[in-house]
Amino acid sequence: MEQSPTFLYGASTSAHQVEGNNVHNDWWAWEQSTSGVVRSGNAVGHYARYKEDFALAQELGHNAHRLSIEWSRIEPTAGVWNRKAVEHYRDVLEDLRSRGMTVFVTLHHFTNPVWFAERGGWENEEASELFARYVTFIAQQFNGLVDFWVTINEPMVYVLQSYWFAKWPPQKKSFFGMLRVIRNMARGHKLAYRAIHLVDADAQVGIAKHLVAYLPEHKKQWDDKFIVALEDWWFNRRFFSLTSGYHDYIGVNYYFTRKKRVHVFPPSVSNIPWEGDRSDIGWPIRPEGLTHVLLKMKKHNLPVYVTENGLADSKDAHRSEFIRSHLRAVEKAQAQGVDVRGYMHWSLLDNFEWVDGFEPRFGLIGVDLKTMERTVRPSAYVYKAIIEQVR
Ligand code: FCB
Repeated sequence: MEQSPTFLYGASTSAHQVEGNNVHNDWWAWEQSTSGVVRSGNAVGHYARYKEDFALAQELGHNAHRLSIEWSRIEPTAGVWNRKAVEHYRDVLEDLRSRGMTVFVTLHHFTNPVWFAERGGWENEEASELFARYVTFIAQQFNGLVDFWVTINEPMVYVLQSYWFAKWPPQKKSFFGMLRVIRNMARGHKLAYRAIHLVDADAQVGIAKHLVAYLPEHKKQWDDKFIVALEDWWFNRRFFSLTSGYHDYIGVNYYFTRKKRVHVFPPSVSNIPWEGDRSDIGWPIRPEGLTHVLLKMKKHNLPVYVTENGLADSKDAHRSEFIRSHLRAVEKAQAQGVDVRGYMHWSLLDNFEWVDGFEPRFGLIGVDLKTMERTVRPSAYVYKAIIEQVR
């Protein structure tokens, strides 16, 4: 099956992972105050080098790009807008426009302004209103420069890492806190959805939802199947249920397949170790999982975009085949009736991979962290050749 010439091919980034010096957000504050945590520092200097980076993306045939606006740059103090930051992002978005790229803008990608975190972050009952105030401002400022709005990136990943596994700031482990944050993020999305549509009735608004392909270890075993259905509901489906009717498209981030098994004595659930290929950080490589999660999105009856998909691969040994096989997985889902309209690889550049620091290399473009020199990896040209075939 051939893609239509309007299919979007591009790559994604997020502000804190590439820009550098996001000194007004809670991640930055946490990096400074917590021992053993890698500091993002200059990240890969994208704040100053965005033109060079977008020129490379254009040369590589991309016709779409996803980035995030850093809330803490726009609103470093509650209710006070930073005009310089606004002008910076206006230049960024206009630069993408001048290159003919379709633009996806994420409004929240894991980081919060320090003042927001100090007021209780997403646990605060006013969190959703505070988020919507910022979103309204951004929608008014950048109306006409953005094609797709992604209100929140991977809400369930953020909630679990920050309020259940206690690995990310604010490192809490609280069941009820976690439920409050999910509720407030769902409200935040809905308020943001309305706010953007008030500015532009035709806006395309959604989220980037991390979806896991869950499999039972034994297909005929009822308890394995039950746990798969339960995790699928909790992690993949629940946020969509809470925000139903507030999506103009479905954004899918796909990285994982998890095979589950239930043990009766002692009662427990385990993830079966993956026996196939893995990325540098051990994540399973399984393109079939992308078809699997895309098929599950069919019921929403909305256009679907793969907003992230990629792997850590410093030697660029698997990335070319990874891209080929995952694009074939997209075609398989299309052939079965899913309206997939774009694919954005994670990531355009090597970047700061949260608590894993700078070791994992996710970029189509490699970055020398000392000189900040960019080097296009061979797989980026393979991706380019695929893109050119359809044009
Ligand atoms: C996703 C995140 C993104 C990046 C990739 C590897 O879960 O959205 O920021 O860290 O994983």
